[in-house]
Amino acid sequence: MNGLGIDPYERGWMIASGVMLAVFLLAVGVSVYRGISLPGHEARIDPGRTLVDPPFAKPAVFERGPGRYDAYIRVQIWAFTPNEIKVPAGSTVTFYLTSPDMQHGFMIERTNVNVMVLPGQVSRISARFDSPGEYLFVCHEYCGIGHHLMSGKVIVTPKS
Ligand code: CUA
Repeated sequence: MNGLGIDPYERGWMIASGVMLAVFLLAVGVSVYRGISLPGHEARIDPGRTLVDPPFAKPAVFERGPGRYDAYIRVQIWAFTPNEIKVPAGSTVTFYLTSPDMQHGFMIERTNVNVMVLPGQVSRISARFDSPGEYLFVCHEYCGIGHHLMSGKVIVTPKS
């Protein structure tokens, strides 16, 4: 027994718990500063008008400045529109996504892009593409019989 009346064995475990908490907090802190970015909630829209109103009626990729692109993607059963996005290496692409029908997902390999896509809500997330190549994206929320067909790619071309 020590001065506080805590059993040394129990005190040992209290210290171990405290150390673990500190390590977890540190891990979260490091992740935040090293690239985890939460998907933004851009806007609410009427899911019934997703196929009618711009920009999702004719979703496309727009150049917003040198090396900056906005990609509007409509995600529906069972396709991404557009399903091919071409940008030069070194570009930062901000993705805006919504669905007219049901819950889907949007995940791009070798990036930290991983969001849910919901009817009535526009999800926003950015990624920088430094290395030329093809980056597959897929729907990763089960959405029915054609779920496995939902894919596309970001094609990053070498800098000219
Ligand atoms: Cu869309 Cu799975």
